[in-house]
Amino acid sequence: MITVTGATGNIGRTLVELLAEQGEQVVAVSRKAQPAPGAAGVRWARGDVGDAASLRPALDGARALFLLLGGERNTHGESPDALLDVVADAGVERIVLVSSQVSATRPDAPSHARLREFEAAVRASGLDATILRPGGFASNAFAWAETVRSKRTVLAPFGDVALPVVDPADIAAVAAAVLREDGHAGHAYELTGPERISPREQAAVLAEALGEELAFVELSREQAHGHLAQFMPAEVATGTLDVLGLPLPTEQAVSADVAAVLRRPAAPFRAWVERNLPAFR
Ligand SMILES: NC(=O)c1ccc[n+]([C@@H]2O[C@H](COP(=O)([O-])OP(=O)(O)OC[C@H]3O[C@@H](n4cnc5c(N)ncnc54)[C@H](OP(=O)(O)O)[C@@H]3O)[C@@H](O)[C@H]2O)c1
Repeated sequence: MITVTGATGNIGRTLVELLAEQGEQVVAVSRKAQPAPGAAGVRWARGDVGDAASLRPALDGARALFLLLGGERNTHGESPDALLDVVADAGVERIVLVSSQVSATRPDAPSHARLREFEAAVRASGLDATILRPGGFASNAFAWAETVRSKRTVLAPFGDVALPVVDPADIAAVAAAVLREDGHAGHAYELTGPERISPREQAAVLAEALGEELAFVELSREQAHGHLAQFMPAEVATGTLDVLGLPLPTEQAVSADVAAVLRRPAAPFRAWVERNLPAFR
C-alpha cells in the first residue's frame, strides 16, 4: 500500500491514478472528506501534512509515502521530525519527498529553507528516501486561465526569460516509478521539461491550441508579486520571482533525469496545454 499526500493537487491527482492503474492499493490524503470518487484501489483518508498525528490512520499498513507539502506548509509548521516520527512508527519503509530545484541551486534562499530542512530530515530518517527537485511547473499557467477566458490576455512577468518548465504529470510518473521500483534510494532527481520556453512562447502555444489570438501583457516584478502573494506565502513569491527573472545557468539547464527514470523523453509544455484546454475556454 502507498500513501499519497497532496492527492488533490497537480502532481497528486495524476499520481493516484497512475498508481491505481499499476495495480497498487493507494491511500489518498486530503484535508477534505472524500474529495473525489474512490476509484478501484483508491481509498481517501482525511489528513493534513501540517498535523503529523492526523496522518497516522492514513499510514496504517503503508510501505511507502509520497510526501508533498502543500501551500503554506512549504514555509511554516511542525518540525519535519514530528512527521517522520509518525511515519517511522507506522512502519513505512520508503519515502519520496517533493522538494524544489531551488533547494539545491540557491542553498541560502529563505523561501526554500523549510524544504531544505525536510530534505535533510528525510535523508537522515533511515528510510529508503528519494528527493524530487522539480523546476517551475507547466501548471503555473493555470494562473492565466481567468484573464484568458475573460479577456483573451496572458499577464506574466519576465516575458522573454525561458526556463525548462516541467509537466506535473511527468513528476507524477517519476514519483510512481520511484515509489514502486528499487534502486532510487539516496538519489535526488532534478525534474525539468525537455526544452526552455519563455512565458511569451508559452502564451503562443496556448493561443495556437485554442485557435485564437491572445494578447501578452508583461507585468512588472511588483505587479507579479502582488498576484503571486494571493496564492503563496510572500517569501515564496519573492523566491519564485528571483528564479523567473534572473535564473541561474543551473535553473535554465534541461535535466536528463525525467528521461532517465521514465525511459522516454520529458513532455513539452504543449502536452500539458492540450490536456488542460478546457480551463482556458
Ligand atoms: N509550482 C511550481 O512551479 C513548483 C516548483 C518547484 C517545486 N514545487 C513544489 O511542489 C509542491 C506543489 O505541488 P502541486 O502543485 O502538486 O501541489 P498543489 O496542487 O499546490 O497542492 C497540493 C495539495 O496540498 C494541499 N494543501 C494546500 N495547502 C495546504 C496547507 N496549507 N496545508 C496542508 N495541505 C495543503 C491541498 O490538498 P487538500 O485541499 O485536498 O488538503 C492541495 O490540493 C510544493 O511543495 C512546491 O514547493 C512547485
